[in-house]
Amino acid sequence: MPRQAKAEYNFYHESPETSEFHRDVIAGLNRQPRTIPPKYFYDHAGSMLFEAICEQPEYYPTRTEAALLKQYAVEIAAEAGNGCYLIEPGSGSCEKVRHLLEAMRPAAYVPLDISCEHLDRAAAGVACDHPWLDVHAVCADITEEVALPFVPEHAPAVMFYPGSSIGNFDPVDACEFLKCLAQAAGRGSGLLIGVDLKKSPAILDAAYNDSKGVTAEFNQNLLRRINRELAGDFNIDAFAHHAFYNTARGRIEMHLISECKQSVRIDGHRFEFNDGDSIHTENSYKYTVEEFQALARSAGFSPRRVWTDAASLFSLHFLRAD
Ligand code: AVI
Repeated sequence: MPRQAKAEYNFYHESPETSEFHRDVIAGLNRQPRTIPPKYFYDHAGSMLFEAICEQPEYYPTRTEAALLKQYAVEIAAEAGNGCYLIEPGSGSCEKVRHLLEAMRPAAYVPLDISCEHLDRAAAGVACDHPWLDVHAVCADITEEVALPFVPEHAPAVMFYPGSSIGNFDPVDACEFLKCLAQAAGRGSGLLIGVDLKKSPAILDAAYNDSKGVTAEFNQNLLRRINRELAGDFNIDAFAHHAFYNTARGRIEMHLISECKQSVRIDGHRFEFNDGDSIHTENSYKYTVEEFQALARSAGFSPRRVWTDAASLFSLHFLRAD
């Protein structure tokens, strides 16, 4: 039967409960230092703002990784093997996978993302532009256990985790997450993963402090979301975006800094802030190629290939689960 006749588009929804957001925000603001998990950036507005960040001239990772995918698509496809089952956790706008699809010709594409509306639009667009491809979109929190909806018996599984999102986990959690991926996709499965490289702090600081203020908006949108979904009363303008490269820890840190003494209520809970108090909203770890390969090995993967750009800004690794 010609492949066009069996192409499918399916959408599955497992998004987290509002109560989980509520629980994590209240617990995070009661803790010292105050933290909110970065996964909550990605409501509809946050996902749009993240896409806008990716277009800022200072934010080099997206365009550098896209150029690597385009340049090395044939080599990547050779590593992945023919007719693979391509799974993309945290697929966002599903733009990057488009650089691979024609060279790779996977048997099925399974994008998973926490932002349902955004996922549906993006995945349906991929299905529409590639009528030969089965697309099974899953709306789910990939930091929790996710059941894959459709795993063919004989197609090799290849996971695609671009964008250096692995950097948003601390190294211990990154190792656990990679182990979970290996377990979900099975022994011998491939992993193509984008990892941002260590580099001059000036380049990193600029990437997270773009001159148009889009990253600042993205950071503050978290407070807007809390106000809207959890009955909060944050005065958004009284919290400033602060992002810097912490050299000792090899990570960008993003914070929201209270610009005065103030109190905030969220659904009957009250939080006191002094001038200068921080809410730590994100870490973005940077690795050398060797550091990342060591992390991958400790999670049970064997490094197979690595591609980097001429300026050594970004790396793409192909790994196999042992
Ligand atoms: C999604 N993640 C890889 C981005 C990063 O660079 O850590 C999120 C981001 N935060 C601010 N700018 C971009």
